[in-house]
Amino acid sequence: MKTRLGKRLTALFEAIPPGYDAVWDLCCDHGRLGLGLLETQRTPQVHFVDQIPSIMADLQDRLKRYGAKGYQLHTLPAEQLNLPNQGTQLLVLAGVGDEVAQAIITGVTQRNPTIQPDWLISPANKVFQVRRYLHQQGFGVLDEGVVFENGRGYEWLRVSQNRERAINPISNPAPFWNAQVPEHRAHLQKLIKHARKQLNNPKEQDARFMLELYEPLLENH
Ligand SMILES: C[S@@+](CC[C@H](N)C(=O)[O-])C[C@H]1O[C@@H](n2cnc3c(N)ncnc32)[C@H](O)[C@@H]1O
Repeated sequence: MKTRLGKRLTALFEAIPPGYDAVWDLCCDHGRLGLGLLETQRTPQVHFVDQIPSIMADLQDRLKRYGAKGYQLHTLPAEQLNLPNQGTQLLVLAGVGDEVAQAIITGVTQRNPTIQPDWLISPANKVFQVRRYLHQQGFGVLDEGVVFENGRGYEWLRVSQNRERAINPISNPAPFWNAQVPEHRAHLQKLIKHARKQLNNPKEQDARFMLELYEPLLENH
């Protein structure tokens, strides 16, 4: 692979099993994940989506220079995507905050009510809220994990609303936390410290709920 992905994007790349007919790199920015997918032919069709025209113009130039094949560019807010009603599709949504992530998942789901694509979701922050939202929307888990890069932890979840395939419910917190692993412990301590600071902030009503669920993860260790 020519495109260098770094640890976080490599983990997301590896979380995409071969076999999808199309993968959508939503909020793609530099498009590195999608470029990696094209170069390795992990999927026959890559859709790049970002709402910033200058980003997409740069990406288009790069793809032309590479002579890449099997891709399409979509310059629009990802909320407005219309998905084709054929083939297996995975929508990757990474590197955006919890509110943008939820708005995009809601928008795409409402615009495409007859399609149940798989999603690979790795929010930049507030995974507690995203997990709760996915649970409320009836998603189930196909696979999940966490990757650490430059001292920060990034959870990822591959999920679907097709509960015949994604039979495991979304848990909150994730099932993989192990406070005996130093990276896990440091990450959980950071989340908990932040939530404790938010306890008196009326705009952060979730802090108390989150602490009730996350603080026990550090106990007994
Ligand atoms: C930090 S980059 C994330 C890049 C890549 N997904 C990653 O994980 O490294 C965020 C990108 O999301 C795009 N973006 C934010 N909100 C969007 C939306 N509603 N629809 C489409 N693109 C959006 C921005 O233009 C920006 O390029």
